[in-house]
Amino acid sequence: MGDPHPKLHATELTRTFGRGDRTVRALGPLDLSVAPGEFVCLVGPSGCGKSTFLRIAGGLLRPSTGELAIRTTPAPDPRLRRVARPTAMIFQDYGIYDWKTVQANVRFGLDIQRMPRREADARARDWLARMGLADFASAYPATLSGGMRQRVAIARALAVEPEILLMDEPFAALDAQLRVILQDELLELTQTTRTTTLFITHSLEEAIVLGDRVLVMSARPGRIIAERRPPFPRPRSGEVRSTPEFTALKSELWELLRPEAVPA
Ligand SMILES: Nc1ncnc2c1ncn2[C@@H]1O[C@H](COP(=O)(O)OP(=O)(O)OP(=O)(O)O)[C@@H](O)[C@H]1O
Ligand SMILES: [Mg+2]
Repeated sequence: MGDPHPKLHATELTRTFGRGDRTVRALGPLDLSVAPGEFVCLVGPSGCGKSTFLRIAGGLLRPSTGELAIRTTPAPDPRLRRVARPTAMIFQDYGIYDWKTVQANVRFGLDIQRMPRREADARARDWLARMGLADFASAYPATLSGGMRQRVAIARALAVEPEILLMDEPFAALDAQLRVILQDELLELTQTTRTTTLFITHSLEEAIVLGDRVLVMSARPGRIIAERRPPFPRPRSGEVRSTPEFTALKSELWELLRPEAVPA
């Protein structure tokens, strides 16, 4: 493929669950290359293997066959412990710890890397400020709204400066207005940090606003059946939502997805 040094490279990746006559082929074969700094969105029918793929990319699950490689760059600070998994994940249900303060949640990944406390606290505070949560550092997640919790999860994920950010329907639990606000925030954030991102969503609008590429997956076992590049140069803003190109691409993607989403 195009980029000779992809950040993530998956080759004929498959995953099967169960055994004997109870086996479910969940994924693949799936081939994918993601370039450094690229934001790739995955859309596909429910149960097609999107989360399975993301869990493989995050090192939480092994593929049945095929390979997945992530190219890592040396830690910017040699004192820090190398992390076994160079990715950070964000899920629909936030995945933050209710018994830790917001500050401690954001510091969590840095503590694992054995970053000195003072430095970790400073970096956590910095990320909380960027996410508009400076006043909530000592609050507990239970006292926050859904949108604020998801901002905590984003701050925690980006604080470790992951090689790849993996997001599995991160905004699905939020109401429509908040969802748009968080999309715009994430757009601005990732255009600044240039973090390589894999983003799963059921929302075509979300995929088009955020993605450098939108990949359409088939019904289970999920393969990539189409790829589109939203024609909006970077840095872009949420204003692309009101362009005719946006509406046209949304219809086109839906035509590709519909035959897969309708039960056979
Ligand atoms: N641990 C598991 N054991 C058995 N089957 C599993 C397991 N995890 C996933 N599956 C099956 O693999 C298939 C793909 O699941 P996956 O969660 O990856 O789909 P998805 O595309 O993320 O769906 P959704 O859009 O609903 O989140 C499904 O048929 C699911 O039932
Ligand atoms: Mg899923």
